[in-house]
Amino acid sequence: MTKVITVLGSTNIDKVVRVPRFAHGGETLKIDNHTIEVMGGKGLNQAVAAARSGVLTQMITKVGQEFDLAANMADENLNTDGVLRSATEETGQAYIMVSKASGDNMIYIYGGANADMTKEDVATQADLIAKSDFLIAQLEIPVEAVIAGFKIAKEAGVTTILNPAPMPEFGDLPEDLLNLTDIIIPNKHETALLTGVNINNESDLDANAAYFMDRGMHTVMITLGSKGAFYMTSDGKKGMVPSFKVAAVDTTAAGDTFIGAMATRLHANLDNIEEAMRYGSAASSLTVSRRGAQPSIPTEDEVLKVLGQ
Ligand code: RIB
Ligand code: NA
Repeated sequence: MTKVITVLGSTNIDKVVRVPRFAHGGETLKIDNHTIEVMGGKGLNQAVAAARSGVLTQMITKVGQEFDLAANMADENLNTDGVLRSATEETGQAYIMVSKASGDNMIYIYGGANADMTKEDVATQADLIAKSDFLIAQLEIPVEAVIAGFKIAKEAGVTTILNPAPMPEFGDLPEDLLNLTDIIIPNKHETALLTGVNINNESDLDANAAYFMDRGMHTVMITLGSKGAFYMTSDGKKGMVPSFKVAAVDTTAAGDTFIGAMATRLHANLDNIEEAMRYGSAASSLTVSRRGAQPSIPTEDEVLKVLGQ
């Protein structure tokens, strides 16, 4: 049977500006380039990463009336049947500053149509979810919408993958959501916000992972940027998958690429986690070495080359 991945999440128009370095509050810095617009959004980035790695991918998202996502994605192997239109809100926007000095970014997002996604909207897309192997979601749409999607998935025997990004600045995630999650993939900031344990060493990683294992999840993967990614599973396996060393040009969508690409390799019975993470990590290294969110996400051929395959 062919594999199907569904992503439930955000679409953003990214307005990107390259800055020499991040300014301090109250400081003025000159830049030497115009703002450029590229497609982004953690949801759509993850879907594009999966689609470019050759797996049939379905996107459930909400955009403004003014925007034709299907036309925009015509070159991608992406099913856009699940693209909804908001009656009142325009397409989400992200304001991204990329430091030329470090390749790091600072992102501010305006929800727009993403914030208008309801659990009723998600229910209309139940058929797409039910025929998937994996359902991947993030937190750029309302958490109730993610919970609704995960409920449909669990009832249909679909494996759920949660990327808890961005984490709510104050407060926790609903226990409901954690209970419906099979695989959670936070970065080190997101996991620390959830568990209350900052990551400084290996035992901190174990403590963070244990928090998720205690809540019944099968797998946690914690992405650590240039340090690679850590994983632990409920059957007692754990390990580190190193990153591929590249010069960081623009880290935007690095985590998204890891998740979408990794999911294309992961077996339904989750028995090849390290192999899948290695593929995700190779894909992500290409994203880091190029500018912009979606324009930087690699194809399968490019990833296989990095892996020497
Ligand atoms: O993870 C990167 C993404 O975060 C950007 O594309 C931006 O749209 C924000 O959602
Ligand atoms: Na990039």
